[in-house]
Amino acid sequence: MHSDIHVQDKVALVTGAAMGIGAACAAILARHGATVIVTDVADAEGQALAAQITGAGGTAEYLRLDVTDEAQWQRAVDATITNHGGLDVLVNNAGIALVHSLLETSLDEWRRVHAVNLDGVFLGTRCAVDVMRPGGSSGRGGSIINLSSVGGMIGAEGLTAYCSTKGGVRLFTKAVAVEVGRAGYGIRVNSVHPGNTLTPMFQQELQDMQDQGVVQSTDEAMQFYMDMQVLPDIGQPEDIASMVLFLASDAARFVTGAEFVVDGGLTAQ
Ligand SMILES: NC(=O)c1ccc[n+]([C@@H]2O[C@H](COP(=O)([O-])OP(=O)(O)OC[C@H]3O[C@@H](n4cnc5c(N)ncnc54)[C@H](O)[C@@H]3O)[C@@H](O)[C@H]2O)c1
Repeated sequence: MHSDIHVQDKVALVTGAAMGIGAACAAILARHGATVIVTDVADAEGQALAAQITGAGGTAEYLRLDVTDEAQWQRAVDATITNHGGLDVLVNNAGIALVHSLLETSLDEWRRVHAVNLDGVFLGTRCAVDVMRPGGSSGRGGSIINLSSVGGMIGAEGLTAYCSTKGGVRLFTKAVAVEVGRAGYGIRVNSVHPGNTLTPMFQQELQDMQDQGVVQSTDEAMQFYMDMQVLPDIGQPEDIASMVLFLASDAARFVTGAEFVVDGGLTAQ
């Protein structure tokens, strides 16, 4: 039995890890002893984070990975296994937001949000399952953690395309968990659903509210979001990363196909 949260000897690949929630996931996994592959399209920030982790005594490497690109997925996963001997954890974190009403949403915008948030999760999950399953090039099972959102559980104004992708991630996760669990692959697949979390993505949303005159200041925008919740605070990337660490570890060995909400009580009401 493994009731403690250990990730030593695990190799973890995190997408969209240059900043925000992904960066916090990479940092906490490395602090707990995992080898972390930091991937993103923001090369400078991703390289800086990998250097920071290494400087603090952890093990990390930066690889460029645009999650919408099937060939880049294969290259990144193959390089991970060649350089580090396997792949145990995949955190499908990369995502983009689009704040537009339904009538303002163009087909190109709809497709772009789905390409990153949903196609990216599909491509990464398929690639990881193929190498993690028995007989695959890693072959020792693993844990796949998909970042959905509270927007994958309840609807939100101005977020139709985003909610569509995040609802897709939620059910895709369960379907894969059932399929690979029943196949005996030793792979667990779960989704994490952050609420309002203070990252560059969320800060942009606060700024947009001020620019559009919805609020007078970003502090007022922050209060608007806090009022949605039960706890009088805004989530920090580390709050989400702690949940990801648990799911990555063997402490979660009996957990699959499940959804983990970290939202200060937003969806409890
Ligand atoms: N911040 C929140 O309040 C919140 C709430 C719910 C869900 N989420 C989800 O959590 C995840 C992380 O969000 P965040 O707030 O940290 O976002 P963020 O915008 O702060 O960071 C996202 C990262 O993803 C990278 N990225 C974007 N497109 C990419 C692509 N095609 N390939 C690879 N990387 C790409 C960006 O460069 C960036 O480093 C997202 O999936 C988001 O939808 C965030």
